Amino acid sequence: MKFQVKNLKARPAAAGLVLTYFAKDKPASQPFWRQLKATDKKQVERYFQAKEFIGKEGEAKVLLGGSKTKIFLLGLGERSKWNTRRLILLTRKLIVLAKSERIASINLAVEQLGASGLSTDRLAQTVAENAVMANYDFLQYKQKADNGFKVKQIILSADKLALPSVQAGARVGQTIGEQVNDARDLGNIPGGEMTPSLLAQKAQLAGRDHGFKVKILGRTEMKKIGLGAILGVAHGSAEEPKFIIMEYHGANKKQSPYVFVGKGVTFDTGGLNLKPEKGMNDMHLDMLGGAAVIAALGAVARLKLPINVIGLVPTVENMPGNAGYRPGDVLKSLSGKTIEVLNTDAEGRIILADALTYAERYQPKLVIDVATLTGACQVALGVRVAGLMTPDTELQTKLQQAGEISGDYVWPLPLWEEYEEEIKGTFGDVQNLGKSGSGGAITAAAFLWQFAKNYPWAHLDIAGTMKTVEGQYLAKGASGSGTRFLIEIARNLAN
Ligand code: BES
Ligand code: MN
Ligand code: ZN
Repeated sequence: MKFQVKNLKARPAAAGLVLTYFAKDKPASQPFWRQLKATDKKQVERYFQAKEFIGKEGEAKVLLGGSKTKIFLLGLGERSKWNTRRLILLTRKLIVLAKSERIASINLAVEQLGASGLSTDRLAQTVAENAVMANYDFLQYKQKADNGFKVKQIILSADKLALPSVQAGARVGQTIGEQVNDARDLGNIPGGEMTPSLLAQKAQLAGRDHGFKVKILGRTEMKKIGLGAILGVAHGSAEEPKFIIMEYHGANKKQSPYVFVGKGVTFDTGGLNLKPEKGMNDMHLDMLGGAAVIAALGAVARLKLPINVIGLVPTVENMPGNAGYRPGDVLKSLSGKTIEVLNTDAEGRIILADALTYAERYQPKLVIDVATLTGACQVALGVRVAGLMTPDTELQTKLQQAGEISGDYVWPLPLWEEYEEEIKGTFGDVQNLGKSGSGGAITAAAFLWQFAKNYPWAHLDIAGTMKTVEGQYLAKGASGSGTRFLIEIARNLAN
C-alpha cells in the first residue's frame, strides 16, 4: 500500500472518493464537494434528503459516481464523541469496505478526521498505520488467493499548509503498520514451520533489511554461558533452542540502551503438564512477544531513532516426551537462582528469567518484556487490552499513556512485594507457580521480577490480545499486539 499526499484543491484522481460526515453535517461541508460532478452532488444530496444517510457512526454507503469513481459516504457520528479510538476503527472499516468493493485507490480528506489532542502528523500517522494493518491478510497457505484483493494506494488530501506534516506522519504510520504486519506474519506461520531456528533466521533477515545487528546463540553457546532455564524448557523438543540478540545503535555506543525482551515459544504444548485440547489451539502464537520485539527493532531502525535499543528473544519449543523437563525438576538459571518447576506449562516465565538476567550486561536504562504469558491475564482483563505490571508506579503511568496513544492498549495490574511470597520455592530459590492459585498474571510477573531487580523494568502480558477480535476490522489471527506499544515507547524515549 502506497500513500500519496495531495493538495485538496487538486483534481481527485482516485477510483474511490471518500466523503466523511458527522451527524448533522451538510453535504457541502465536505472539502471535496466543489470537485464533485453536478450529477454526483445530486445523488449525495438525495441520500441526505431521504435520510438514508444521516452521518451516524458506522454508517457506510457506496455510490456509483460519474466517470469511473465510486463515492464512499461514511458516517462519523456525533462530533462531540469523535476521538482517536473511533478514528482507528473508521480507518480500518474504510479499508475493509474498499477491499470488498474492489477499489484499489481511494482519496481521503484527512484533516476532516482530526480529533482533539491529535496533531496533524499524528492524525496522518494513525490513518496510514491502521490502513496498512486493515489491508493485511494471511494467505501464504491458501492455494488460491481468493480474498486477496488489496488497496494499493491512498491519497491523503489536505490543505496546502498541512502537506509536510501529513507527509511525515504518513511515512511513520506506514512504517509502523508494516512492522505490525510483519509481527502478525511471524505469528501466523504454523508451529510446524515456525521453529526457533526459523524465528532466528527471520530476525537475521529483519536485521539485514532494516539495519540492526543480529547474533544467534545455539545450544552449545547457551550451555557455555549458563542459560540453564532456557535449556531446561527446550529439553523435550527436537528443535534446537536459540537465543536471539538484536542490537540497534542510533546513538553513541557508550550510551546505555533500552532493552526489549520477548517470549518466543514457537509452540506450547504445555510439556509433560500437557495442555487440554482447547488450550493447545493457537499455541503457535506463543512467540508473539518475540515477534513484537523483532518487529519493533525493525521499526526503530527504519525510523532511525537516535537511541540504542537491544532486543532479546529466547526461543524454544515446549514439548513433552522422554527428554522433556519434569515437574519437580530444579533448573539453574543464568542469575544463579534455581527455579523449581511445579508445572512445565508455566514455561514462558522460565525462559524469560534467563533473558532478563542477560539484559543486565547492557546496564540498561529500562527493560520491557512482552509475553503471551498467562491465561489468567485474559481472564482478568479480557481480549481487548494487555496487562501491564511494574513495581514502578511512575513508569506505569507513562506506559499506560503510551499504550493509549499507540492504539495498543495496556492496563495495570498491581505488582507489590507482598506477591513475592507466592513464588518462594521449597527446594529451589523460586517456584514457577503461585502458591495461592489465584492472581496468575500477577504471580507470573512476581516471578519475572526476581530476575529484573537491577534496572527499571515493566512486563506486558499479551496472552489476551494476541489474536484479533471481531469488530477490530482486522484479519483473523495474530494481532501484532505489543508492537505498536514498544515502538511508541521507543519514539518517546528518542524525544
Ligand atoms: N502460553 C501460555 C499462556 C496463554 C494461554 C497464552 C492462553 C495465550 C492464551 C502459557 O505458557 C501458559 O501455559 N500459562 C499457564 C500458566 C499456568 C500453568 C500457571 C496458564 O495460563 O494456564
Ligand atoms: Mn505454557
Ligand atoms: Zn506459553
